[in-house]
Amino acid sequence: MPQAARAIVLAAGMGTRMKSARPKVLHEICGRPMLWYTLRALAAAGVTETVVVTNAVVDAQIAQLLAPFGARSVIQDPQRGTGHAVQTGLRALAPASGVLAVAYGDMPLVTPPIFGAALAAVRAGAALGLTTARMPLPSSFGRVIRCGDAVAKIVEDRDCTPAERAVDEMNAGIYAYDEAALRAVIDDLRDDNVQREYYLTDTVELLAAGGRVVPVVCADHRLVLGVNDRVELANARAILNASLCEEHMRSGVTIVDPATTYLEPDLVIGRDSVIYPNTSIGGKTTIGECVTLGPNTRIANAVIAAGVQITESVVLDTQVGEHARIGPFAHLRQGNVLGSDVRIGNFVELKNAMLHAAVKASHLTYLGDTEIGERTNIGAGTITANYDGTRKHRTEIGADVKIGSNSTLVAPVRIGDGALTGGGSVVIRDVADGDRVAGNPARPLIKKSPV
Ligand code: UD1
Ligand code: CA
Repeated sequence: MPQAARAIVLAAGMGTRMKSARPKVLHEICGRPMLWYTLRALAAAGVTETVVVTNAVVDAQIAQLLAPFGARSVIQDPQRGTGHAVQTGLRALAPASGVLAVAYGDMPLVTPPIFGAALAAVRAGAALGLTTARMPLPSSFGRVIRCGDAVAKIVEDRDCTPAERAVDEMNAGIYAYDEAALRAVIDDLRDDNVQREYYLTDTVELLAAGGRVVPVVCADHRLVLGVNDRVELANARAILNASLCEEHMRSGVTIVDPATTYLEPDLVIGRDSVIYPNTSIGGKTTIGECVTLGPNTRIANAVIAAGVQITESVVLDTQVGEHARIGPFAHLRQGNVLGSDVRIGNFVELKNAMLHAAVKASHLTYLGDTEIGERTNIGAGTITANYDGTRKHRTEIGADVKIGSNSTLVAPVRIGDGALTGGGSVVIRDVADGDRVAGNPARPLIKKSPV
């Protein structure tokens, strides 16, 4: 268990370069708002109390995001720079001794070990553990100006002299402070810079005396890239997606083309499963072993058992039993439970449908608000007419039933075990076990008595 620490996350900037009505830190990558990744990485690094500095627009939208992390927010108004934001955050935290991380809400790729390394520097005696990274120039990052090996100060790109601008060691924007040391200097910041803002980065020069700013170099600069516009948003998404794919490949999943496989955090995918191109898997989804998914498939909030095959289909909020086969071109849209060996073919739509083991609906069918017993075969073109214009009704179909092609089952209606409907039946009354009906409206077929 990492030692406990506290954190301030800055998310009050307007994110103007996104050109968006949505606050920057709430733009999503791989299915989660950017800010979520920061909160999660901090929690994994041992942070137990977090204050997020927001503006009124962000604040109104983040309660749900903060709750699982036990984080709270404080509004910074007006926004007068990152140093002013930290002053605001500190006022919302009862003073304590210990380590305080400061992170920006627009850096979703930062991993727990990167935060952990900065926190460790403070536990080893630093006043400030400052994360830095070497980056290709030109860059808009603040430059880390050293005096010998020691860090002297950070100069923002806009405030740099040409010589400072040529430095390629950047301020990553990840800080761990000894809280008392930070509180001692935070009110000494000045706004005498190009942007007339209070820069958090000026705390570096204020704490540098005595060598108490310890630089922690991050080897992979891509992980500390901030997202300031939508081009950087797409780059961050690609990097994160590649690492999610890599994680699953290393634990035994074949991903034919990671570049066109779109994953989200916290998925469970069993070994020897194979994902074909242009497939997205998201939400709270669990996939068993030896499952084949894709190509061209979208899956969200699904539980898929071992040995299932899903091709060119959409499967949302659905449970699928072992060895079921779905697609191509099926749409399972919400609340379905499919037993083992179920077969769903092309142009079949399912909603709130419980299909027991080995049910087949192979072609051109809508099954909604229904339960269907084992081994029943649904003929091509069958429709559960579940909506009477005002209310939805259920269709109950027993086991070993044969529903003829192009049947319309007008709900509420019940079809007993072993029953049969003829092709083109419009079933408006219940059918008893073993009965055979046909026609519009469907009537029992009377067996001719032998003469
Ligand atoms: C900042 C750093 C820079 C560093 C870079 C790394 C400063 C002065 N500069 O620059 O050295 O290399 O990050 O990505 O800190 N924010 C507030 N309130 C404010 C202003 C900003 O909460 O008044 C928040 C923003 O929402 C954002 C974060 O602070 O999440 C950083 O602000 P931003 O304007 O993006 O700073 P950069 O110019 O990227
Ligand atoms: Ca930034």
